[in-house]
Amino acid sequence: MSILRGKNILLGLSGGIAIYKSASLLRRLTRDHGCNVTVVMTRSAQAFMTPLVFETFSGKEVITEMFESRSGIVGTRHIDLVQQADLIAVIPASANIIGKICAGIADDALSTMLIAARPEKTLIAPAMNHNMYNHPVMQRNLAQLRGLSYNLIEPETGELATAEEGWGVGRLPDEKTLLFYLEKACYAQKSPALRGKKVLVSGGPTREALDDIRFISNPSSGKMGIALAESAAKQGAKVVYVSGPSSLPDPLGCETIRVVSAEAMKTQILQHFEEQDIVAMAAAVEDIRPKVKFAGKLKKQAIPEQLPLERTPDILALLGKNKKKQLLVGFSVEVEKGIEHSLKKLREKNLDLIVLNDPGEPGAAFAGDTNRITLITPDGKANPLPLKSKEESAEAVWEQLLKPEA
Ligand code: C5P
Repeated sequence: MSILRGKNILLGLSGGIAIYKSASLLRRLTRDHGCNVTVVMTRSAQAFMTPLVFETFSGKEVITEMFESRSGIVGTRHIDLVQQADLIAVIPASANIIGKICAGIADDALSTMLIAARPEKTLIAPAMNHNMYNHPVMQRNLAQLRGLSYNLIEPETGELATAEEGWGVGRLPDEKTLLFYLEKACYAQKSPALRGKKVLVSGGPTREALDDIRFISNPSSGKMGIALAESAAKQGAKVVYVSGPSSLPDPLGCETIRVVSAEAMKTQILQHFEEQDIVAMAAAVEDIRPKVKFAGKLKKQAIPEQLPLERTPDILALLGKNKKKQLLVGFSVEVEKGIEHSLKKLREKNLDLIVLNDPGEPGAAFAGDTNRITLITPDGKANPLPLKSKEESAEAVWEQLLKPEA
């Protein structure tokens, strides 16, 4: 279940063309995440979009004035609403509202609420023209906000509505990224067990080359690894994600290292292993590779009929042999006697948890969005979970691994 479920959110909207994205974000928050959202709009925000849009999506009166209320609520409501809110998010945040926060100006409903709110539970998503964003005063203001423990959602570089070249820094990130940071800010208020932990996750397949064009691989998409990495990052862990070849974008909030072969994955993981608290090997490391790699592209006639193969290094077994403080999580795909074989693997590789995927189960396929997993612990206990999204499955893995001992 999303950490955002049932949360009270004050969504502040200031003037910027990116406000159109906030309408769909609001819809996601209320409809998909069950949040209770009160929208506050500055005067310039209302020049871009009417409050009616946000009133419809939030199901509530939109606050536009400091001292007036259609429902006749008293003049202290800005304080009450801030106190009731789990999060205050200004999306998009204009140069003007950022300047007001930094100067302590409270001259309308939104700026007054912001000065009544703790920086730790406030998110600011700057979105503006690149010249405005790069202005030294803006950069100074943003540095000040960071120093004051505000949660900044950094803008992206990309297409801008107002840049002369049509391109620059200052674009509001997409909905998925905004939701990631809202969830992260919610977790930060709960002190989750993963907070501050160093976590390495691997994901995706590996490719074992026969020549410069051909390789042996498998259909792993990297979705489960990404879900694990993002879930840990959301909960405040410092995450390194080592990814085999995958067409998916890097997980949010993580340092991603891209590799191709099992050998390269091993090198990267060993390089980072010592400082980690947790390593989760969700990668579908290819078990075999051609003994010889040919340069260029082999002529069809030159491909040997019998291809000499060898095993790739078993990275997880190597980690299990060398582990000190680290908690190790492995994944297994078994077509029969899943629990028995997985438990054997857990013991052989010296793991703290193994996650069994049954490829025969509907919904537990390699590249899908859902998974049906069984969590198996060193004491031999198996906890089969119902069909879940990969994000929810990832949360369940972390919860099981960090469960306080009974
Ligand atoms: O032994 P098996 O390949 O079934 O084990 C699966 C687990 O071991 C997965 O967590 C996978 O990431 C890891 N593994 C590995 N190196 C390999 C093969 C698998 O680390 N060469």
